[in-house]
Amino acid sequence: MHLLTLGYRSTPAHQQKRHVIMIRETAILASNATGLRAAAGILQAGGLVAFPTETVYGLGADARNDAAVAAIYAAKGRPSFNPLIVHLPDVNAVAQYCEMPQVAQKLAAAFWPGALTLVLPLRADAGISTLVTAGLQTLAVRVPDHALAMKLLTAFGGPIAAPSANPSGRISPTTAAHVADGLSGKIEAIVDGGPCAVGLESTIVDCTGAPALLRAGGVSAEAIEACLGYVLQHPSDPTTPKSPGQLLSHYAPKGSLRLNATHADAHETWLGFGAVDADLNLSSSGDLTEVAANLFKMLHQLDAMGATHIAVSPIPDTGLGKAINDRLKRAAAPRN
Ligand code: TXA
Ligand code: MG
Repeated sequence: MHLLTLGYRSTPAHQQKRHVIMIRETAILASNATGLRAAAGILQAGGLVAFPTETVYGLGADARNDAAVAAIYAAKGRPSFNPLIVHLPDVNAVAQYCEMPQVAQKLAAAFWPGALTLVLPLRADAGISTLVTAGLQTLAVRVPDHALAMKLLTAFGGPIAAPSANPSGRISPTTAAHVADGLSGKIEAIVDGGPCAVGLESTIVDCTGAPALLRAGGVSAEAIEACLGYVLQHPSDPTTPKSPGQLLSHYAPKGSLRLNATHADAHETWLGFGAVDADLNLSSSGDLTEVAANLFKMLHQLDAMGATHIAVSPIPDTGLGKAINDRLKRAAAPRN
């Protein structure tokens, strides 16, 4: 199954991996038209570009390109697939990818562009990589309040997925030098736009149900509550009644998973890895970037196939393999 569509990342998976490994120098791009053109070109080709926003520097990739999004996780060394925030130039662009409940329209009108991320129902035809949403049917979106970020979004002309541009476990970068410190040699370029004004990540509000505060950040909860005229739900508070759609739940297929399987029993569907004769293969060449790009798509495919018992080949627990195994373990955990 060939899922990779753009630029040099549309070459076979093992060559993409080589490409990523062969990045030796991260270009520092100036915040002028030439720099932005180069940055947009790298994104279009499936590469990674760190860029400033008013909150922190983001590590950007084309949100529609599985392999580019997988490369974000590899560059950050993230041990798990948390869903990513997608950056867009305005509310009309957001409406192309997400449903906009009334409460979201109200918050968007009051706080965008700005340090507020909204979690919204994802449109079925959005074309966003399943690796961005970690298989969820919701999408976190933000319109950044930063002239350079806005110019990059316009020059690129598509959705940019971007977590904070730091290696996993390190603090979020607020200057280009911080980014270079952590990710030099691992990403194609950094657009230097000077220090970030807010210096704190965006506030995240889930608007798929009664609005709930998922992360405190650059816009205060009080300001949001003043706009809404009522208080936000706090799903992390154990006394708050939990209702579906308010919590970040993890995607798991309907069937049960048996991990580290070296064969499939008669009643099982085999999700393979490497040179095995499986029903679906995450990467027959054994490439972890390809596994990451295929993971959520194939879990959904297993649902579509009606798989009730799924045997999963062992995946090496190195590099991207850590995040892949983390997600497989969650999917295999007993459910209630
Ligand atoms: O200020 C910011 O938000 C920065 C700049 C670059 O925009 N980005 C940022 O991204 O902080 P990151 O990946 O470090 O944090 C994203 C957070 C994660 O904690 C993730 O769990 C949450 O957003 N998130 C993303 N999609 C979600 C979804 N569909 N439902 C719930 N939470 C989501
Ligand atoms: Mg972060």
